[in-house]
Amino acid sequence: KKRIAIMISGRGSNMRSLIDACAKPSFPASIELIISNNPDAEGLEIARKSGISTQVIDDYDFGNNRQAHERQINAALQAHHVTTICLAGYMRLLSPFLINEWKGKILNIHPSLLPAFPGLDTHKKALKKGVKIHGCTIHIVTEKMDDGPILGQAAIPVLPDDTENTLAKRVLDQEHLLYPRVLKNFLLGFEADSTSDTLING
Ligand code: GAR
Repeated sequence: KKRIAIMISGRGSNMRSLIDACAKPSFPASIELIISNNPDAEGLEIARKSGISTQVIDDYDFGNNRQAHERQINAALQAHHVTTICLAGYMRLLSPFLINEWKGKILNIHPSLLPAFPGLDTHKKALKKGVKIHGCTIHIVTEKMDDGPILGQAAIPVLPDDTENTLAKRVLDQEHLLYPRVLKNFLLGFEADSTSDTLING
C-alpha cells in the first residue's frame, strides 16, 4: 500500500476529501502525514481530528531559506516512509530541491483547466476572459509552476450570471470528486496518457 502525505496551507477541504477516500478499505493508499506551512490553517483542525500525524512546518521560521524549510519537510516525509505527496491548497512554491527528491511523486490540484490560468485568482481570470468552460486539473509537479503532465481534469460550464464565488464553489465540488479518483488511478499505475478523465457536468 502506498503511503501518502498531504500538504496544505489553508481551509483543507481537498485534504478532507482525500482523507475520506483513503478511509475506504479498497483505496490503495493510506494517509500517513499532513503537513501545513501555515500554523493558522483552518484545515489543521480537521487534520488533528482525523488522528493522522500532523506537523506544522512554518516557512516563517526559516526566513528566506527555502532549502532549509524544505529539508525539514523532507525529513518529516522520510520519517513517515511517505511514497507520494498530494499538494492540496499548498500555497507555497516548491523549490527544485524537493521536486527533484520526489520526482514524479508530487501531485497538485489547481482550480482551472490548465494550461489556462496558472497562478492565483483563476476564477476571476476565467470570468474576465469569458471562457464558457472552466474546471480543475490534477497534475504532476515539475519545476515550472502549474505546468507538469496532466493526470485528470473536470469541467463545468460557466453560467451567464456566475460570480467568482459561485464559480469557485462549483469548481470546488468537482475538485473534491476529482482528486481521490485521479490519485487512485495514479497509484494503480494508470498515468497521464491512459484513460480520459474528463467530465462535463451541468
Ligand atoms: C483549492 O481550490 C485548490 O484547487 C487551490 O486552493 C484551494 C484550496 O482549498 N489551489 C491552488 O490555488 C494552488 N495554487 P482547500 O484548502 O479547501 O482544499
